[in-house]
Amino acid sequence: MRPLAPRLQVIHDMVRPVAVAADIGCENAALGVALVLSGRAQRLIASDISRASVEAAQATVRRLLSPEHAATIDIRLGDGLDAIAPHEHVDTVTMAGIALPRMQRILRNPRVLYAPAAAAGGGGGSSSRARGAGRG
Ligand SMILES: C[S@@+](CC[C@H](N)C(=O)[O-])C[C@H]1O[C@@H](n2cnc3c(N)ncnc32)[C@H](O)[C@@H]1O
Repeated sequence: MRPLAPRLQVIHDMVRPVAVAADIGCENAALGVALVLSGRAQRLIASDISRASVEAAQATVRRLLSPEHAATIDIRLGDGLDAIAPHEHVDTVTMAGIALPRMQRILRNPRVLYAPAAAAGGGGGSSSRARGAGRG
């Protein structure tokens, strides 16, 4: 497997080991696959708004992962955090290589703004902040 691009490696290294991570705008799923292979994410939701990216992510997973690891990755077509259902638990969300205005629009999702931990300035750990972002 090719090494991660340095900018993705930085993000990878910032993710503490979690049960569920979501990579929004995953494109070819390079970051998500690395998170699963390193054990930083036991389960991963990899989503993208582009069908071509979703297909590229599926191809990467088929090419690089064992069936056991592949089963831990859920690849979805979706716009920003809408790819995560309100009832779903997510510990950490990553977003890489998305233009700032677009990222700001994604983060203006009411599910982030009105999550109690996020609204309180993230007083909880990273887990509770991300969990807030993943809930309705
Ligand atoms: C430049 S690529 C970066 C891919 C990868 N995250 C990386 O850093 O290498 C940006 C990706 O974000 C996706 N994207 C843009 N807006 C999005 C949105 N609102 N929701 C989900 N994905 C989005 C694009 O389709 C594209 O695949």
